[in-house]
Amino acid sequence: MENFFYKIKLLILRILGYEKPLRVALLKYLSLKFTTFRPHYETLIYESSKNAVKLGYDEINIIELGVAGGDGIKTLVKYKKKVEKILKIKINIIGFDTGTGLPDTTYKQDLPFFWKKGDYTNQNLNNLEKEFINVKIYQGNISSTLDEFVNNNKKKIGLIIFDLDLYSSTKLFLNKIHELSKKNLLLPRTFCYFDDLFLADYCLDDSNGEPLAIREFNTEFKDLKLGKFFDHINDFKFPLAKGQIYTLHDLNNVDYEKYIGIYNSESLSGKKKDKFRSLLDD
Ligand SMILES: C[S@@+](CC[C@H](N)C(=O)[O-])C[C@H]1O[C@@H](n2cnc3c(N)ncnc32)[C@H](O)[C@@H]1O
Repeated sequence: MENFFYKIKLLILRILGYEKPLRVALLKYLSLKFTTFRPHYETLIYESSKNAVKLGYDEINIIELGVAGGDGIKTLVKYKKKVEKILKIKINIIGFDTGTGLPDTTYKQDLPFFWKKGDYTNQNLNNLEKEFINVKIYQGNISSTLDEFVNNNKKKIGLIIFDLDLYSSTKLFLNKIHELSKKNLLLPRTFCYFDDLFLADYCLDDSNGEPLAIREFNTEFKDLKLGKFFDHINDFKFPLAKGQIYTLHDLNNVDYEKYIGIYNSESLSGKKKDKFRSLLDD
């Protein structure tokens, strides 16, 4: 009983000290309870597609790195169907997974005290391709499947969802990005969502895992940069994921300087029609 009351006390202190409004915690709770309710995935697909359309593309690929049981793929399919109708764009979903769960951890920065070989084993990856059209799953370690993808893929990648958990696996993909860039397979700016930037209590921090792979990528590649959004009151578009989104800048991309901005010569000129931009369109 003493144990129980102690835990209740800790819980109350945590709730009182929680820095975000409790409605955010509620939204997060709902996304954990209903595995295909991921508002951040929806806006990520929408904003990525909007950028692609503005740049003149009518078809993009969205990548999920780490598929496990397929909840992420199912979520992406659910949302992409809506976005395809609204923005008149075709969206293909491409997943990567070993099918046998996490591979062996190679480095201490993989957090071997937290992740272990075989976590998230899924024997049914093929079913996802059968169940959904325009879904392709590359099964196997990305160390051996990425080349096939890089050589065969023809469409621009609009969004990359990183959920490989391990530093070494994340780095494997990041090390291929310069090849995707050379083959002109990236948008000039590609949204990247990193799922594993949140586990402070498991010692996942900026010295290991995805953050370390990102930092090394930014040091190693001169013309490719992963930039992190500023946390600002103007940034309202990505519920639950503000701290987890980076933009992959492909600085040599042919479209990098193509104008897709929202201002014009009359902006802030005092003319009434320019005073308000619609939150629905912006
Ligand atoms: C957390 S799970 C993915 C969960 C999924 N994104 C979702 O939202 O339901 C991580 C997955 O990454 C996969 N993975 C990790 N390293 C990999 C690698 N080097 N090659 C292929 N898959 C890998 C594992 O097999 C595991 O299924």
